[in-house]
Amino acid sequence: MESSNNNNEDMVVTPWEVKGKVDYERLIRDFGTQSITPELLKKVEKITGKLHPQLKRHIFFSHRDLDTVLNLYDKGTKFVLYTGRGPSGPVHIGHLIPWIFTLHLQKKFGVRLYFQMTDDEKFLIDDKIDLQDTKKYSYENALDLIALGFKPEDTFIIYDVEDIDLLYDIALEVAKRITYSTAKASFGFKDNTNIGWIFWPAIQAVPCFIHKKLTGENLPALIPAAIDQDPYWRVTRDIAQKLGYFKPAQIHCRFLPGLGTGGKMSASKPETSIFTHDKPEIVKRKIWNAYTGGKPTAAEQRKTGANPSICSIYQYFFYLFEEDDKKLDVRLNKCRKGEILCGECKKELVQRLNMFLREHQEKREKAKDVIEQYHIKR
Ligand code: TYM
Repeated sequence: MESSNNNNEDMVVTPWEVKGKVDYERLIRDFGTQSITPELLKKVEKITGKLHPQLKRHIFFSHRDLDTVLNLYDKGTKFVLYTGRGPSGPVHIGHLIPWIFTLHLQKKFGVRLYFQMTDDEKFLIDDKIDLQDTKKYSYENALDLIALGFKPEDTFIIYDVEDIDLLYDIALEVAKRITYSTAKASFGFKDNTNIGWIFWPAIQAVPCFIHKKLTGENLPALIPAAIDQDPYWRVTRDIAQKLGYFKPAQIHCRFLPGLGTGGKMSASKPETSIFTHDKPEIVKRKIWNAYTGGKPTAAEQRKTGANPSICSIYQYFFYLFEEDDKKLDVRLNKCRKGEILCGECKKELVQRLNMFLREHQEKREKAKDVIEQYHIKR
């Protein structure tokens, strides 16, 4: 489904393409989701204690039924977490945003995570990728997930192609209840769309419901992801209750921007993306070439200040690399007043990113010894 907007004619947000300047308020209206209100944040805070920066900063900004899931939780009904990855290449730090938040929720609520590797999805939608590629990236991307600190007791990775026997009966139940006209309206399928892709959304629905099959326990699923995945949940929510399940709930985040002049971080633009495997000198080069809100000369910037609201470097501090609100504010104000130059912010960001990546890469290596423990069991 395309969400276009009169002011931003070229905004496109689908599970397969994000283009143009994203208007998040508009997406809430177009997709029919709910804003995360201050009252809802208070409710989360009551259960989890201090709010996670991604909630406090409104990086997670929209939801469906988060209030319902929290009310049920209050009354003693747990939930399961569900998120995933389409393994078509290496992981970039934008992908880590929802995963880091998922880990936080898992720790605070003490719940299971089902994580879907959609090797089949990427094979079907991308002509240049074969099943060997998606299998290889499934393995590589799972290492990134594990490196973040998920525990094997509570984390169940599903590799679609390998685990299709586990998914197929539920996928059929789902597929039977979604008409072609609904799928076409939700996903924009055309006459030349291959028929594998048309059926495929039923597969992404399955982990919303799989907990019951595995344990006998009927629990709602809460899905943290960027807002691009929402069309899947719209069709899944329509049929959930017909099949005797809870409607899956969602919590949606914004996109970590790329290092260029706009748009989300995307693996298809490697020079403006930071991949988890990037070496320090590559990170340095990418950050030094990044777009900022700076002025053409240092003298001019000192005199008139810069514009952090359009600066990709500032966004990295905001999204991931400055948890301290006061320090973030100081940076913002200094930037506006011209008391700090872009080179200083870039230098600091390179240091923080490289420290984060060095640790991540070490943990990723260690994950190779334990990856099998995370594979979903029958
Ligand atoms: P994929 O591989 O496109 O993206 C994986 C996750 O990363 C989010 N994401 C981002 N978040 C913040 N900033 C960005 N720049 C950014 N780019 C991507 C995506 O929203 C997603 O949460 N079909 C899915 C795989 C999947 C899935 C799921 C995702 C299967 N089941 C359940 C979320 C929840 C896909 O191709 O994701």
